[in-house]
Amino acid sequence: MSEERPICMFDSGIGGLTVLRAIGDRLPDERIIYFGDTARLPYGTKSRETITRFSREIVEFLMGKRPKMIVVACNTASAYSLADLQGAVDIPVIGVIKPGARAAVRATRNRKVGVIGTRATIQSGAYLDAVQADDPGVKVFSKDCPLFVPLIEEGWMDQQVTIDIAEEYLKHLVECGVDTLILGCTHYPLLKKVIGRVMGRDVILVDSAEETALEVEHALAGLGQLSGSLLGPRCEVFLSDMHLNLRLEVERFLGFSIPRIRVVNSEFEEIRLQGI
Ligand code: DGL
Repeated sequence: MSEERPICMFDSGIGGLTVLRAIGDRLPDERIIYFGDTARLPYGTKSRETITRFSREIVEFLMGKRPKMIVVACNTASAYSLADLQGAVDIPVIGVIKPGARAAVRATRNRKVGVIGTRATIQSGAYLDAVQADDPGVKVFSKDCPLFVPLIEEGWMDQQVTIDIAEEYLKHLVECGVDTLILGCTHYPLLKKVIGRVMGRDVILVDSAEETALEVEHALAGLGQLSGSLLGPRCEVFLSDMHLNLRLEVERFLGFSIPRIRVVNSEFEEIRLQGI
């Protein structure tokens, strides 16, 4: 059986494109529709109510694309609104937290796992709960790293200031002796080199994008809903705002170029922006 409906996914911005890339690498026959809420990011500093309202609105828009699955490609939205979204629609909704937590439990040898993410994700305790649901004996050490997202968006991946900030943020996790670190924000895979250098060669970095792609594959295979052949464009990207540099950033996150980025207004109607 083959199922040609798209996989729809969303993030607060373009960080979730790391998840799109991982799903695209693993499942090259799937059509993927991505929504990045660039007009309203960051989510990592907002309340549960606001994050859930934004997530609901986006899922309503994406449901209009007749998807077979929704992927919440944002750790913050997964932490606060996954259960709500799962109750709101009748197709599978997959978040990024459980797959990352499961991979970390599998990877750790000394049973000390670190988690980094936005302030909202860390404060939610969602990773702690997910790791301990898999194995209550694993200790979790968490650290919010709010400056990482703007540094990545600025393209400062290996500047000295980025290394200094990473050292400051991560020193407690190094001292605690974690042997596995979950990159609990969709932006962080782009900072893997610096984070890896600061944590040390022996620490395993868990990229929730790759783990989520695996989960999507298993879920679709289990439902008999993998796509047999690709019809039409492979991926479509919608953003709620766009500025001149964003196309370059989108391509940096994706690793390839796309012919068109669509922009929608606050009513989720497609618009054309002057000069873009
Ligand atoms: N994409 C968000 C996440 O994975 C981080 C950016 C934000 O704060 O909106 O948590």
